[in-house]
Amino acid sequence: MNDRLKCTAVFLSSALVASSTAQTAEVPVTAPHAMVTSVQHYATDAGVEVLREGGNAVDAAVAVGFALAVVYPVAGNIGGGGFMLIRPASGKLGGGKPHFLDYREAAPAAASADMYLDAKGNVIPKMSTVGQKASGVPGSVAGLTYAEQHFGKLGLKKVMAPAIKMARDGFVVDSALAGNMRSDRLGMFTASKRIFQRDGDFYKEGDTFQQPELARTLERIAEKPDDFYRGAMAQEIAAFEKANGGLITGADLAAYQCKERAPLVGRYRGLEVVSAPPPSSGGVVLMEILNILGGYDLTKFGGDRSPGQVHYISEAFRRAFMDRADFLGDPDFNPAMPIAQMMNPKYAAAWRTTIDPVKPSPSATLVRPAGFMPEAPSLKLDHESKETTHYSVVDAAGNAVSVTTTLNFYFGSGVTVDGLGFVLNDEMDDFASKVGVPNGFGLIQGPANAIAAGKRPLSAMAPTVVSEMPHHFLWVKKPGKLRLVLGSPGGPTIITTVANDIVSMVDNGLNVQAAADAPRFHHQWMPDTLQFEKEFPVDTISRLKADGYTVKRLGEFDEKTPGKWGDSAMIAADPKTGLLSGSNDKRYLFGKAAGY
Ligand code: DON
Repeated sequence: MNDRLKCTAVFLSSALVASSTAQTAEVPVTAPHAMVTSVQHYATDAGVEVLREGGNAVDAAVAVGFALAVVYPVAGNIGGGGFMLIRPASGKLGGGKPHFLDYREAAPAAASADMYLDAKGNVIPKMSTVGQKASGVPGSVAGLTYAEQHFGKLGLKKVMAPAIKMARDGFVVDSALAGNMRSDRLGMFTASKRIFQRDGDFYKEGDTFQQPELARTLERIAEKPDDFYRGAMAQEIAAFEKANGGLITGADLAAYQCKERAPLVGRYRGLEVVSAPPPSSGGVVLMEILNILGGYDLTKFGGDRSPGQVHYISEAFRRAFMDRADFLGDPDFNPAMPIAQMMNPKYAAAWRTTIDPVKPSPSATLVRPAGFMPEAPSLKLDHESKETTHYSVVDAAGNAVSVTTTLNFYFGSGVTVDGLGFVLNDEMDDFASKVGVPNGFGLIQGPANAIAAGKRPLSAMAPTVVSEMPHHFLWVKKPGKLRLVLGSPGGPTIITTVANDIVSMVDNGLNVQAAADAPRFHHQWMPDTLQFEKEFPVDTISRLKADGYTVKRLGEFDEKTPGKWGDSAMIAADPKTGLLSGSNDKRYLFGKAAGY
């Protein structure tokens, strides 16, 4: 558990074990060999246990993924989806090349472009976020089992054992989970209310939470992974969907596949950045931002979070998010997306010429530099809480795994599959329910991300790995030294959080913990508002407001709102010594970075 905010120092029981309990402010956890960091201490422990048993980083990542489905049901899941980036240290794992697993949810065959619109063509509130019709075909089981079967060493039974044990025997509920399980959306659905709310006798901090149905489901997956998609379990899911007005059928489950895609590779200040390709916008938008920023010496504008840096970084955010809105979607449905153009350094240089040294560029009148991109579709703007989780793993051989997984909003659709004990996602809201109408994250999206049967909704998740540039030894290309494993939850703020973390560490020299804890800011083109976490220094916000920005300090008028977003569960490797440092984002009290 991350006790950093409550105590200043706790002595370690073993000099070889590093964990978050030893932290003081902005001092990362360190470990010489291997490390796991996640939002939930039980899940981190499951990953470290698997590493100690001889598992590699993929074994540990799969163990953490299934453990999070048990101990962090707000976002950890088997009823959702995610992306896994595997970055091997050498030729031993996966042929030495980075691998990207896309296990994003897919729209059921019965889905259609206007499925969330009423007879007048208006978006029906909450239909894509709550209840049975909000779910895409889950991908997590396909993704995690594919990862284990292709890249793991220990086998599913071994890596799923900690999750199964915690589901069967229970684990101690922390104050955050106790609060989250009171969610109204869970109370709306019979099985969710029974399992997570004991039919009104709410769980309290310190109670033990057992999930026998989920334990049995996980055991069945460990025994026969394909059961979820093509066996008895698939039939049970399909029958539940049919009985409750859901759209997912046995045929949808049978058609689902984890897809390996080529990860996006870019450069920032002489380092290699590997990140998520479509159907995530995460990597391409991140690369476009970094390409724009790479042409400046940001330290000349001030230090980390100075008004000068915030201005230039926000202008890069604004421009990259504009391209996201117009052009991105599932690559299998949009073969001509201008990804190479968005990542072209010359395009970034042309964008830089449009950035004023002080004044913000209004989003509504922003014009793309000519000659790079195809014509944008016309997006007529029609104006009318959430949770994901990220975890990072590095093993003793230097293999790195970066995973972001989600149900979309807290507890997804709120619907639990009765008898199987897992929550279904509401990822359909990541599509444009109507082109030009903002989704749950205020994102305007174009026709490339309209709903269609079998299509995967555009994501912002950005599991990322930063390394030194690859080098050649004789004729063999060797990966460069690992520097950072990172990612975050937070919808569109995922991308800006990852970009800010890279700038904080690479440009401004912050350590991994200080970068995670730094107050966040975000711009996503539309709405044309520079958003700040509540704890962001007010004088900097005032200065940017005076320069012409419309600013919003999250939750400033509401004492109960924490006014924060994101969770930077990152691992940094010291280029000289190889020492690993893990962050525990201070915004999450029960996360843990640990290693050995
Ligand atoms: O894939 C996406 O971009 C969203 N479904 C992520 C949602 C999210 O990060 C919510 N977390 N705070």
